[in-house]
Amino acid sequence: MPRLPAVSSAAGAPSPSVETARPEDFSRIAELTVDVYVGGGLTNPGYAVELADVASRAERAELLVVRDGDGRVVGSVALVLDGDFGEVTESDDEAAFRMLVVDPVRQGRGTGELLVAACLERARAAGKRRMVLSTGPTMTAAHRLYERMGFTRLPERDWSPVPGVDLQVYVLEL
Ligand SMILES: CC(C)(COP(=O)(O)OP(=O)(O)OC[C@H]1O[C@@H](n2cnc3c(N)ncnc32)[C@H](O)[C@@H]1OP(=O)(O)O)[C@@H](O)C(=O)NCCC(=O)NCCS
Repeated sequence: MPRLPAVSSAAGAPSPSVETARPEDFSRIAELTVDVYVGGGLTNPGYAVELADVASRAERAELLVVRDGDGRVVGSVALVLDGDFGEVTESDDEAAFRMLVVDPVRQGRGTGELLVAACLERARAAGKRRMVLSTGPTMTAAHRLYERMGFTRLPERDWSPVPGVDLQVYVLEL
C-alpha cells in the first residue's frame, strides 16, 4: 500500500507542530476523545465523563495538540510530568502520558508518533528518566506505535482501575 504523505512533510503545507492546547480547544478535544474512545468501543462508556473533562486535565497535565492547516485540532495527548494524574508513575523520575488520540480521518500520517515524540522530548528536558503509560487491550494501533518507538511491556505494573477493566503498562527508558 502506498504511504500517505506524512503530516510533517505534506507538499507545500507548513509542517504541523505540537503546541500546548488553549482553553478554546477544550471542547474540541473532549468531543474528539470521547468519540474515538467511547464511540470506537475502546473504553467503557462510564469513562466518558473523565475523558470529556479537559479543563481538569489541563490543570494536572500538559495538554498538547496538533492542528490541521485550518487550525482545527486533529490530535491530542496529556503529558504528566508531576503529580498523580499519570496513575502509573511510581517515582519523581517517571513521566506518563494519557488520552492520546488522533482524529480517525487523520490517522496513519504520523500524527500519533509526533505527539508521542513531543512527550518524550519534553520529559527528557524535564530531567525524567522513564516514560510509563497504561493502555487497554483493544488499543492495538497504539500498541504498534509504542513498540515501534521502543516502548516495552511492564507487566508487573498492569492494573485494573475498576473490576473488568484490565490495563497494560508500557515503559520507555529516556
Ligand atoms: C494510536 C493513535 C493515536 C495513533 O495515531 P496515528 O496518527 O494514526 O499514528 P501514526 O500515523 O503515527 O501511526 C499509525 C500507522 O500509520 C503508519 N504511518 C505513519 N505515517 C505514515 C505515512 N506517511 N503513510 C502511511 N502510513 C503511515 C504507521 O506506520 C502506523 O502503521 P501501523 O498502524 O501499521 O502500525 C490512533 O490510532 C488513535 O487515536 N487510536 C485510538 C485511541 C487510542 O488507542 N489511544 C491510545 C491510548 S493508550
